[in-house]
Amino acid sequence: MAEETVTIVDNRTGNRADLPILQGTEGPSVVDISRFYKEFGLFTLDPGFQSTASCESAITFVDGDEGILLYRGYPVEQLAEKSTFLEVCYLLLEGELPTRSQYDRFCRTVMQETMIDEQMRNFYKGYRHDAHPMAIMVGMMGAFSAFFHDSLDIQNPKHRELSLFRLIGKLPTIAAASYKYSVGQPFIFPKSKLGYIENFLRMLLKVPSAKFKISPRLVRAMEQIFILHADHEQGASASTVRLAGSSMANPFAAISAGISSLWGPTHGGADEAVLQMLREIGSVDRIGAYIQRAKDPNDPFRLMGFGHRVYKKYDPRARMMKKIAQDVLSELGREDDPLFQLALKLEEIAHDDDYFCRKGLCPNIELYSGIAQSAIGIPSNMFTVVFAMARSVGWICQWMEMIGSKESIGRPRQLYVGASCRDYVPLHRRP
Ligand code: SDX
Repeated sequence: MAEETVTIVDNRTGNRADLPILQGTEGPSVVDISRFYKEFGLFTLDPGFQSTASCESAITFVDGDEGILLYRGYPVEQLAEKSTFLEVCYLLLEGELPTRSQYDRFCRTVMQETMIDEQMRNFYKGYRHDAHPMAIMVGMMGAFSAFFHDSLDIQNPKHRELSLFRLIGKLPTIAAASYKYSVGQPFIFPKSKLGYIENFLRMLLKVPSAKFKISPRLVRAMEQIFILHADHEQGASASTVRLAGSSMANPFAAISAGISSLWGPTHGGADEAVLQMLREIGSVDRIGAYIQRAKDPNDPFRLMGFGHRVYKKYDPRARMMKKIAQDVLSELGREDDPLFQLALKLEEIAHDDDYFCRKGLCPNIELYSGIAQSAIGIPSNMFTVVFAMARSVGWICQWMEMIGSKESIGRPRQLYVGASCRDYVPLHRRP
């Protein structure tokens, strides 16, 4: 079949070019503009990349209009209902669901990587005690490259594989330690015979003076939260990891950049911001005032947990997250949790509000995430750390796909609007 193209004409010069249209397996096709500058001497401009695909990818597909999210073709709802987080890690990394023996070997390898070097523990002592766990995570992830010199050659597949198992295996340990340090409690060692999520919750919540016990339903709810956060195609943090990694920086440095990007309140930091917002709203009768503020173009206030660059009808993860929050609260006999009831009312009012409908501002994954995690016992300053832990497997996949694609270094151009060339004026001759 003849190549499909888009014809671009520069009306100033009559210069024209037929640019190829590339069709993927799902979603919108793309126009390949890689030779645009050569043909027209022009750059394209798309701040925020609203209409720009940065790469080809086979990992995750998001349809924002239909509220579809697929990990390697599998709907995230099915994976959250039926799979485990480590099985989803395998799927995202390998592209297929594992056989029984592949799955067992994968889990064993990850759980053998949960210990961290005792020297790494000393890093924590350098932080103020009230450091935000995300600040510690950024530092600790960067520090990985100061410890693992035997797996930094990113052209070596064995090094890449060793790095990914170290990342997935050790992240829960450094994440739990980041929290323990911030509350002045002793670190809890990992237990490799536990499941991945239970091991994390034990290191996070156990205190040496008491036996640790947690309901399997709460562990399962946490695992579903990890699955829902595992990847989300080319969001800000994944794009940061790809761009950082495109300079051939080691994976730990690239993932550390991803954690930094995720921390922002308009991205992964929104889960903590949602809880702060709900506490500030306080009661149903105050919702109206906050909705008005969210609609006021002169007020920087945004309704946290609402809106998304891609989802304009609903975020399938938000629906799942609401159910998880309901399950956790009913397990704890707290169905009438005031913050949950407030979030439900907020969603109902925003759903019927013309502004929110017109602008496609639906609940996103963060609206109920913090409520569910808080009920499980996760401290609010750890919500984004949990997000970073879960998303690290997605970032690793994106990084590996980028390395494998032999893409050259990412280097966007600009529309320059600054001063034209001018000569230096010595200080004594200036007014
Ligand atoms: C995540 O990219 C990903 O995939 C991210 C993520 C992932 O899994 O990696 O899905 C995770 O980051 C979810 C989003 C969490 N953030 C929040 O809940 C913070 C609140 N949301 C907003 O900050 C905002 O919705 C963004 C940042 C998420 C999206 O911002 P955009 O792309 O600018 O939104 P838009 O272009 O669709 O906005 C359209 C209009 C704008 O107003 P106008 O300029 O047209 O007048 O809606 C307004 C926005 O100002 N708007 C909001 C709003 N979000 C957008 N108004 C009030 N409240 C909001 N929450």
